[in-house]
Amino acid sequence: MELFLDTANIEHIRHGVKLGVISGVTTNPTILSREGQVDYQDLVKKICSIVPGPVSTEVLSRDAPGMVAEAREIAKWAENIVVKIPANLEGVEATSVLSKENIRVNFTLCFSLNQALLGAAAGAAFVSPFVGRLDDIGEDGMELVADIVEYLDYYQLPTQVIAASIRHPQHCLTAAKIGAHIATVPYKVLLQMIQHPLTDIGVERFLDDWKRVMGEKTERFPTKP
Ligand code: G3P
Repeated sequence: MELFLDTANIEHIRHGVKLGVISGVTTNPTILSREGQVDYQDLVKKICSIVPGPVSTEVLSRDAPGMVAEAREIAKWAENIVVKIPANLEGVEATSVLSKENIRVNFTLCFSLNQALLGAAAGAAFVSPFVGRLDDIGEDGMELVADIVEYLDYYQLPTQVIAASIRHPQHCLTAAKIGAHIATVPYKVLLQMIQHPLTDIGVERFLDDWKRVMGEKTERFPTKP
């Protein structure tokens, strides 16, 4: 499973890329608004230059012709740009037009298998089920991810599933177990994923044992005189 960062924060994106584990980024208007009143186009272009893989950014138009016009402009910003289109009727129409023009679409705000099915049929490159928001209303977000993965796999469709609205590390490991192609995670969750107290305790104990015998010298292979 690939990992994307669900943020527009340049510092966090740089760190994720430096770690070598982040291959894409997803944004939405809420995420971009968290960076303040910056030039939205400049910010997205900068993200595209830092990240090796797909960078999703969302249209603001509500009707299909508006979405298509906006997406065509956004598509010119960078090679690795992906346009987020909402999973509604206007979005299906826009996705069908854009996919025929080879503009990659991330079919977003997806809350049902039927929505995903239509997004895939319209040619979306990615479909983004919002796991946390379904959990919030007492549904099982990961069950939807599993259903979409199974559906796409059964019919051998090229659309990739991005498990989105990820809230905690448990979501990531479930997404991986059920075969999501990608999980897009907040920076905080990325940091939480590596945490384990036994690792920290183990590192400390190894160093203490070493120092007890070798003293403060931690250079394992001292250069020969
Ligand atoms: O990837 C979608 C995400 O940005 C939405 O997350 O936490 O607002 O439901 P959240």
